[in-house]
Amino acid sequence: MTKVGIDAVEIWTGKLKLDLPETFAPAKDEDPGKYTKGLGLEASSFPDTYEDIVTMAANAAKRLMDRKGLTPDDIGRIDVATESAFDHSKPVSTYVAGCLDSVYEGDFTHTNKGERKFACVAGTQAIDDTINWILAGRNRGRAGLVIATDTALYARGDPGEATQGAGAVAMLVDEDPAMTALSLDQGFGSKDETDFLKPNQQFPSVDGKRSVQVYLSRMREAWADLESVAGRIEPVDFAYAPFHTPFPGMVRKAAPLAYRRLVRGTSVEDDLADRIGRQPREAKFDTREDYEEAISAYMDDLTELVEYQEWYSGAIEPTLDIARRVGNWYTGSVHLARVSALRHAARSNTEMIGGRLLIASYGSGAQAEIHPETVREGWKDEIEALNIDGQLARRYDISYEEYETIHDVHDYDKDTEVEKFTDPDGEFVFTGWGRMNERQYEYAE
Ligand code: HMG
Repeated sequence: MTKVGIDAVEIWTGKLKLDLPETFAPAKDEDPGKYTKGLGLEASSFPDTYEDIVTMAANAAKRLMDRKGLTPDDIGRIDVATESAFDHSKPVSTYVAGCLDSVYEGDFTHTNKGERKFACVAGTQAIDDTINWILAGRNRGRAGLVIATDTALYARGDPGEATQGAGAVAMLVDEDPAMTALSLDQGFGSKDETDFLKPNQQFPSVDGKRSVQVYLSRMREAWADLESVAGRIEPVDFAYAPFHTPFPGMVRKAAPLAYRRLVRGTSVEDDLADRIGRQPREAKFDTREDYEEAISAYMDDLTELVEYQEWYSGAIEPTLDIARRVGNWYTGSVHLARVSALRHAARSNTEMIGGRLLIASYGSGAQAEIHPETVREGWKDEIEALNIDGQLARRYDISYEEYETIHDVHDYDKDTEVEKFTDPDGEFVFTGWGRMNERQYEYAE
């Protein structure tokens, strides 16, 4: 069977940084510990005045194409996953292709373009679509470009404001991929939910506390569905488990759930039983509430154990490193978590070829998808080619007043003019609106 998966990746962060414990917490009269310890966040990335979902996507894509020596003829599809689109008809991928057309010889005339929407899980769905297109033999030797791009902004004063972020992840999906090959086994957990949505509005309506529970429920269902096709999954099967990371504290809540499932019925559960008893089995309880209470107590005990903590610090903690410094990138978030994990492996000289990742994606509304990936020979070169550390270090550190201004600049209902905070340097920039209210871009040398 042909191996298909992610051949290359590039990341583009918004060029502004809001320091959450130092700048945001004092302005909100909150304890910085809520951010660093509770949510697990240090900073959010924001787009400068001339940045948006198109510029970030096109800049990530250009870096990827240049590094891989690709021309438009090599790309058979451009799928943009976003939940920050500004047009109900014209897809963001057309704007991105327009930007790229302006700097390459040749063009994307014969490239199929689209936009994928299902909150944060859309990036993973776009990878799926591209893989299916390749496996169906319809790609004519070409690869697909999947770009997850979002400005994850909340209304000011919404609890979600603490978890904002902005950036793009561009991925080249191809046969014989250099970085990771996707298993065709996957599990879904999907239900009609109204926890987080944007009904014809820019900023989301969010039931934050409920969204956390919905995330956990859909993940549980996806896990059961995956095991129904892939069989039992055990901790030793996976080096890292990158999850969708709206904020690292969310993954800290999801991880015990994963570990509990991983060890259930194994010798690890037997070993732990002396100290915390066996895992509660639903059949032994009269009501669902009693069962859930018992599970919750078991998980509290579980997270205190050294076995759990060692697994968490090896398989989960390294996936959170970039998210901690940029906030929620919605569609890009789980793909940042994958990169974060592989960066950790590269830095610690861990041999990863043939090693496995368990990728757990999630989108509000709500759907979780979990699938395994196998790391390929070229993974280290791909990860070492990234310049994300330089990008993060170069971000302009905004004050709280500057944060309010830049939030207004990106609010479609406000007309706020302000000087840019940084200077473009060899990148696509937003230049204003055209006669049909289309957004316009140019490449700034
Ligand atoms: P909140 O009310 O701002 O925060 O809402 P909190 O008071 O619940 O505090 C957060 C955590 O910090 C709590 O930990 C506190 O105890 C702790 P927990 O009890 O939950 O473990 N804390 C402290 N810890 C140490 N020292 C302190 C301290 N103070 C407090 N001093 C909420 C938090 C997540 C609800 C809010 O940020 C929100 O609404 N976020 C947006 C929704 C969201 O991100 N949901 C996550 C699941 S849904 C999802 O992932 C999908 C999404 O990405 C969208 C999509 O799919 O498109 C959002």
